[in-house]
This record gives sequence, C-alpha cells and structure tokens, in this order.
Amino acid sequence: MQETSNMDWLGLTGCVCVVTGAASGIGRETADMFARAGARVAYLDLNAKAAMKNAAALAKEDGQTIGLGFDAGRPESIEAAAGAIQTQLGPVDILVNNAGILRPGDLAHVALEDWEMMMRVNVTGYMLCAQQFGRAMLARGQGALVHVASIAASQPQAFSGAYSAGKAAVAMLSRQLAFEWGPKGVRSNCVSPGMIRTPLSEAFYQAPGILEKRASIVPARRVGMPQDIAEAVLFLASPRAAYITGQEIVVDGGFSQALMGFAPRPGY
Ligand code: NAI
Repeated sequence: MQETSNMDWLGLTGCVCVVTGAASGIGRETADMFARAGARVAYLDLNAKAAMKNAAALAKEDGQTIGLGFDAGRPESIEAAAGAIQTQLGPVDILVNNAGILRPGDLAHVALEDWEMMMRVNVTGYMLCAQQFGRAMLARGQGALVHVASIAASQPQAFSGAYSAGKAAVAMLSRQLAFEWGPKGVRSNCVSPGMIRTPLSEAFYQAPGILEKRASIVPARRVGMPQDIAEAVLFLASPRAAYITGQEIVVDGGFSQALMGFAPRPGY
C-alpha cells in the first residue's frame, strides 16, 4: 500500500493538542504528526530543552507549536503548563498522556522508591493531566483524551517493577474517564503499543541479534516504530473517532495474539 502524507481527512486543522513526553520517542513523533496535520501543538516534557527544540523544528510562521518543560508527577507544574498553553495557543481540544518511565526490578526486591516513582509518573501523572486539561474541555463540552498504555497492561511484563500494574491502571483510568465524561462531550481512549524501538527500549536493541529475534516472534515480522503508535493516537484523537470512547487499540504487529505459535505443532 502507498504511504500518504495527506492527513486532511483527520479534521485536526487548528485543534489545540497537548502531548506529554514529547521530547523523545512516541511522544515526539505524535506531536510532530499533529503539527503536520495542521494542529496547534504543545510539546511538554521534563526535558524542557529537547521539548522546545522539537517544537521549534515543526513551528510554522504563525507559531503553531510550543515546547515547555513540565513534570507530569507534580500538580503545580501541570497547572503552570496549562496556564502557558491557554495563553499561547488557546483552549485545549486534545490531550495525549504519554510521558512514562521504566525502572526495572523483580517484585521480590523492588525498591519502594522505584515503585512509587513509576506509579507517580505513569499513573498519577496521567490522572493529574486528565484532570487539569480535562476541566476546560468539560466546561466547553468537547475534547478528547488519548492515553498511551502498553500491551503490558494485559500481559504481565516481568522484572519491570510497577510497570505492568501501572499500565493496567491506565487502561482502567481511561475507561472510567470515558464513562464519567462521555455525557459531557469528552472522549477517552487508549493506545497500547507492543515492542517499539525508542530511547526507552534502545538498550535492549544494542545487544547483538535482539532486533531480529524480536521481529521473528511478531506476526508482522518487525519491531514497531513511533510512527505506528502516532497514527493510532491521531485517529482516536480526531473527529473521525467521534463515536469511539472507552476503547483500547493495541498496536503491536499482532504480537499479543501470537501465544499459540509457541506451542509445538508438528507439521506446521
Ligand atoms: P521515551 O523514553 O523515548 O520518552 C518518554 C519521554 O517522557 C521522555 O522524553 C522523558 O523525558 C519524558 N518523561 C519522563 N518522565 C517525565 C515526567 N515526570 N514529566 C514529564 N515528562 C517525563 O519513551 P517511549 O518509548 O517513547 O515511551 C512513551 C510511552 O509509551 C510511555 O508511556 C511508555 O510506557 C509507552 N510504551 C513504550 C513502549 C516501547 O516499546 N517503547 C511499549 C509500550 C508502551
């Protein structure tokens, strides 16, 4: 199939979009794709310098992109970012909760500090951002939230401390928001990536043969790219998904459906 750069069909022109974790990986690609679709985009990240640099790279002459430093785990920081976005871009239409961290650890020994930090950024941060940016959406009776969860929300990701438990919480948070805010015109959905090559996961791919081994167990026979996730996020955020809420789109090349492939089956 042909690649196309025509994204007019999404109807995102002029929408004000906030993407958290937009300094890197999936968040950056998503923010860039919103900007290319004609949206006005706020790139938020703990890494303010990279967020601003990324935003500047996609800025048009009328200033459609801004980059801001913020900490998804701190309410006062989210509030400050929301104020700056309201002033510089106007009322927010779309929030993409994406900023996340991974602190490996087995459950027998995981440090409380690591557990709490992951829950704070990956779960509480999503709730706080939904609350802060969602309030204005509720007041206007329109808006869309997209949360980047993970296939780890439904498949236990071992030796990753609070990661799986936190992603499962995100999936439920999204559904709860969909139920509570649906009658007020605000939708909430999840995109759950499988194995995606980004700075978060890059260390794995430095080991010889890992890329090929991982690709070989995915039905699509490749590891995913940030663009694969961004495409699904943009669709769910857009008016094209106006009647979709409380749902999850798994973007994993079929990986989470491959379980039966591990059972030896002579002749196949
Ligand atoms: P990444 O590490 O490339 O980007 C994450 C960004 O979040 C970074 O720019 C980082 O500075 C920012 N961030 C971290 N803590 C923050 C905080 N407290 N406040 C503000 N920003 C903060 O990671 P990647 O891979 O792009 O991950 C994005 C999301 O996708 C995460 O929620 C992750 O759990 C999820 N995901 C990633 C997968 C993968 O294979 N890479 C698979 C499944 C889910």
